[in-house]
Amino acid sequence: MPTPHINAPDGAFAPAVLMPGDPRRAERIANLLMPDAEKVSDVRGIGAYTGVYNGKPLSVMASGMGQPSLSIYATELFTHYGVKRIIRIGTCGGLSSKVTVGDVVIAIGAHSDSSVTNLIPGIGLSHTASWELLSAAVAAAEGETSVHVGPVVSRDKFYGNDPSEVQKLADLGTLGVEMETAALYMLAAQHDAQALTVLTVSDHLLDGSDDMSAEDRESRFQGALKLAVAAAHC
Ligand code: HPA
Repeated sequence: MPTPHINAPDGAFAPAVLMPGDPRRAERIANLLMPDAEKVSDVRGIGAYTGVYNGKPLSVMASGMGQPSLSIYATELFTHYGVKRIIRIGTCGGLSSKVTVGDVVIAIGAHSDSSVTNLIPGIGLSHTASWELLSAAVAAAEGETSVHVGPVVSRDKFYGNDPSEVQKLADLGTLGVEMETAALYMLAAQHDAQALTVLTVSDHLLDGSDDMSAEDRESRFQGALKLAVAAAHC
């Protein structure tokens, strides 16, 4: 049952999919967790991998960048491949003074400026994480002071956002900015599925701190991955 963007056979995906933005990161996650994983799709260089982790089936597939790209893959996974939960594992720019580069953010909800998530004119929908996945990730993070739970903002533009808007979002307690989560949460709601996003803060828009070193990026990423896997298999 290939779709326009996934050329995998029926039953090729596990009920739970880990979804980084970057296709190379998807391959690395699959290799790290499931050395015997099978590559089940490769349309447009977006590899998808399915294997078994800790005795349970798991798939990994990238979303590409931005809400339109994520929406294509998440929709096809939910509607054609029987996927029941997607856990985004990505990066964000820090906004709140409570977070610093290298910290992990579990997104309880996602504000959005995207037409993709603006389903009902005049109603600002709340795009929220699935409680079961959220609580599993939070439990797995117990005692970790560098893990934060709160709202993020999913924007359509990486460049050229109004700095005063960025400050207002920070003042409202928004922990970070990225480009995918609101669409993921909305699609999960539309398809009676579950979703969660776990992000590593890769840079900070307001505190002037340096971006993460390659070494830090890797070790912090492992921490985020642990939480994402806990949610995938809860
Ligand atoms: N916007 C700004 N900074 C970022 C983002 C983003 O989407 N992702 C990681 N750092």
